[in-house]
Amino acid sequence: MAAIVALLWCTLFTFSASPLGYALSLNYYDQTCPQAESTITDAVKKAVINDNTVPSALLRMHFHDCFIRGCDASVLLNSVGKNTAEKDGPPNISLHAFHVIDNAKKEVEALCPGVVSCADILALAARDAVVLSGGPTWEVPKGRKDGRISKASETKQLPSPTFSISQLQQSFSQRGLSMEDLVALSGGHTLGFSHCSSFQNRIHNFNTTHDVDPSMHPSFAASLKSVCPAQNKAKNAGTTMDSSSTTFDTTYYKLLLQGKSLFSSDQALLTNTKTQGLVSKFASSHEAFTMAFVKSMIKMSSLTGGQEVRLDCRVVN
Ligand code: HEM
Repeated sequence: MAAIVALLWCTLFTFSASPLGYALSLNYYDQTCPQAESTITDAVKKAVINDNTVPSALLRMHFHDCFIRGCDASVLLNSVGKNTAEKDGPPNISLHAFHVIDNAKKEVEALCPGVVSCADILALAARDAVVLSGGPTWEVPKGRKDGRISKASETKQLPSPTFSISQLQQSFSQRGLSMEDLVALSGGHTLGFSHCSSFQNRIHNFNTTHDVDPSMHPSFAASLKSVCPAQNKAKNAGTTMDSSSTTFDTTYYKLLLQGKSLFSSDQALLTNTKTQGLVSKFASSHEAFTMAFVKSMIKMSSLTGGQEVRLDCRVVN
């Protein structure tokens, strides 16, 4: 298995060329900060002991970073003056665990000042999050740079949970990601929690003829409606992404095939023959899922875009 994964990242190496012309590499910090990876892993481990929502938060944070301006840690920047940062854009309000990256950065800075980018720290922390949840491990190509621009308005470019398969396909292909990447990375929904607002459209006033999305299993819809009533006032109300939401497994795909997925964008994976085939394959093979997930994570996390190594992940240099 390890050998196959190793082979995978070798063949994927070509994806690491960035629009700015710099390439990522596996041994990037070998001379300049050999302890970087283990220091980051320790910081993530420490945080997870106190809070088991940290892994899902870090995985989603990395995805949201990569989809806007590439994986350049733009999602970590704070709003300043009149500039509202990505972090404060609607889809990112529910992101959390930023302190984990801050702590990792502080420890890495103490060892090797000004060397390790926040974007690399986030990519490594997302990998560690998957491993600590029982998922696969992989070598993360490194050498990303941090960006200097972060605009809340650009978070409109993130895929919405109401997207159809063609909208999802477009969003992914604009970033060089395929339908297979879409299905494999949606498997990230095996971890974490969703607020009611993200699947509200499916359980109340779905369309002119149905109150509830008819593709949703009726008893599942009923349980979601009881947690999220039409006039939901509890802003923290919601539900876990799947029934084993702290374990990285294939439950998400199994439930999806039973009409028990949360988002229209999850359900949409069954509306196309190719993506439906991949959902079935990943539901029935843990190995096929983890291999595809690793391959697609390396591809997504190799979308680069920044130009500096930030000293404080929340502020440009
Ligand atoms: C395909 C398009 C995607 C859409 C439309 C989407 C949408 C969403 C939405 C609406 C939530 C719930 C947010 C909330 O209510 O708090 C969510 C949660 C999550 N997403 Fe996605 N997502 C997508 C792809 C991905 C990818 C590619 C990953 C990572 C590989 C990912 C990982 C997660 C995780 C881990 C959570 C749980 C977050 C937490 O517990 O804090 N998603 N996603």
